[in-house]
Amino acid sequence: MTTFAKISQVAHYVPAQVIENDDLAQLMDTSDEWIASRTGIRRRHITKDEETSDLAAQVATQLLQKSGTAPETIDFIIVATITPDSAMPSTAARVQAKIGATQAFAYDLVAACSGFVFALSTAEKLIASGRYQKGLVIGAETLSKTLDWSDRSTAVLFGDGAGGVLLEATDQPHFLGEIHRTDGSRGTDLQSGVLGLSSPFSEAGEDAPYLKMEGRSIFEFAIRDVTKTLDDLLASQGLTDEDVDYYLLHQANRRILEKMAKKLRSDIRKFPANMAEYGNTSAASIPILLSECVEQGKIFLDGSQTLVLSGFGGGLTWGAILLTL
Ligand code: ACO
Repeated sequence: MTTFAKISQVAHYVPAQVIENDDLAQLMDTSDEWIASRTGIRRRHITKDEETSDLAAQVATQLLQKSGTAPETIDFIIVATITPDSAMPSTAARVQAKIGATQAFAYDLVAACSGFVFALSTAEKLIASGRYQKGLVIGAETLSKTLDWSDRSTAVLFGDGAGGVLLEATDQPHFLGEIHRTDGSRGTDLQSGVLGLSSPFSEAGEDAPYLKMEGRSIFEFAIRDVTKTLDDLLASQGLTDEDVDYYLLHQANRRILEKMAKKLRSDIRKFPANMAEYGNTSAASIPILLSECVEQGKIFLDGSQTLVLSGFGGGLTWGAILLTL
């Protein structure tokens, strides 16, 4: 029998502390009006004492509880993150320990805002191989620790949070198509966590830990390259916009979603958005949105809807998955 993968449960978790645009205006020369009108962001959740693995473990625990799954039956855990607790152990290994998934192998996947989509694609192949039955795929970030809080052009855009899915083996196809892309030649348009060389045997390198972004160039990249990829993905399956119930896109900027919807000749109501509440949470944004849409009764886990999930950002990376849920 051929094995396929299916998203059988979704969950999200964000830190309790809420920072409003007006709170940021106390720290830097900005305003609620500027931030909200340029981005659609009104507030973000910022961690006080929880690390990325704490957020991810909360999601993992919810996934297990909601689905009645025993932790020792999980075969693998992939955490997509650019803000791990540490390079080693990985955030996924920490989650594995925290939830007692004793039989699971676990690793992090680093692809910025495309991280969740790339991780989901990888996990789908693991399940479809027939070797593994259950996996957790989580996007989790504490971007607040990588921001330069004196730089108003980036600090206002991002937030912390985590979301994820339980992926299980099934006998019906749910993943219908995908396109994943990377253009490393444009990588410096968006970067963070640069650790310079520092051994006694090397020339001294320069550290650049904080997130830096060429905002306008990333904006144009999203409208041009990502929209083309969404078009190509639908065409590759002989589908059109009419066949898609919802586009769950990375939540960077409300204006990006509006421009993409227009270019795709689609209805903006098919593009759920929650950046007003969370800002850009990088790898966590798509699973947080998916989990909220399920909670709100907009999206069902019964295989009746066709969705496009698409992430885009640092790398530059971008990717899209067409699936029924
Ligand atoms: N408050 C007030 N003014 C500001 C702020 C702020 N927070 N930030 C910038 N400005 C000013 C600038 O200094 C500039 O002033 P000037 O004209 O006097 O020089 C003016 O506002 C316009 O700045 P722009 O950068 O041109 O503003 P723009 O309209 O392009 O919006 C933004 C900037 C919101 C960042 C937009 O370019 C954007 O959303 N880009 C895409 C971001 C994105 O998609 N990221 C996804 C990937 S993230 C990841 O992968 C981790």
